[in-house]
Amino acid sequence: MSPKIPRIIGHRGCAAYAPENTLEGLHTAADMGIEWVEFDVTLTKDQIPILFHDDTLERTTNGHGLVAETTYEDIRQLEAGSWFGDSFAGIKVPTLEEAIDVLIERDLGLNLEIKSAPGQEKAAAEIILDELSKVWDDHERIRITSYNHVSLETALDMASDWPRGVVIGYHCTGKWLEAVEKGKLPEDWAEIADYLQLSSISLDFDLCTPEQVNEIKETGRAVMAYTINDLDRVRILQSMGVDSFFSDAPDVVKDGLLTVH
Ligand code: G3P
Ligand code: CA
Repeated sequence: MSPKIPRIIGHRGCAAYAPENTLEGLHTAADMGIEWVEFDVTLTKDQIPILFHDDTLERTTNGHGLVAETTYEDIRQLEAGSWFGDSFAGIKVPTLEEAIDVLIERDLGLNLEIKSAPGQEKAAAEIILDELSKVWDDHERIRITSYNHVSLETALDMASDWPRGVVIGYHCTGKWLEAVEKGKLPEDWAEIADYLQLSSISLDFDLCTPEQVNEIKETGRAVMAYTINDLDRVRILQSMGVDSFFSDAPDVVKDGLLTVH
């Protein structure tokens, strides 16, 4: 049940050192010798898959409003680097297509997290996976994840032979969020993971206890913890048996893992 799991994954590209979900972040991770990156993909109003984390434009661009209500042409006019640092001024929000070109050029593996506006869960997965499948055939270097079960069900239908995992954390909804807020795994997590044929659980580090990490690993699934940016936490999680670390500062995790025996 467990395809190859990368040890270290640059989170949102390499979010401590370059604006998140940008091509510059992907290059930064590759320049550091990091072999895998994670990024978030969502749809614009006109259904173009772009790299973007939030529902709204304000935090990481000079735009305003909902991503899902803004066309790609309008998003392309925005500036997505100054909020992070003057040296990144002028950076644009990338399309998935542009990001894939960089991944291939830099030989990076990808954990693609599908995000979507409410009601777009199926469409987002369909469009994103359709675009990805046209150019990506290396099943060893891809993992599709989402908080959303509808997106994961669509991924099961469209890409059953691609490694897939669910994200369990504070973006969950309903009973899953209730459990997360108590620091617990959702009661039916394994049942859902069986149904969706998932080989990994991306787990907020708040939920990483020895018991809960063990509960997941006993089912043969990998535990991929996020977002891990300091050495002490790397060591604690590694001692629990966590398989993989999403990090904004993947160089720190790399150093931490090297020193642990
Ligand atoms: O996939 C792990 C992690 O990226 C999920 O959290 O909010 O950074 O997308 P977030
Ligand atoms: Ca993410």
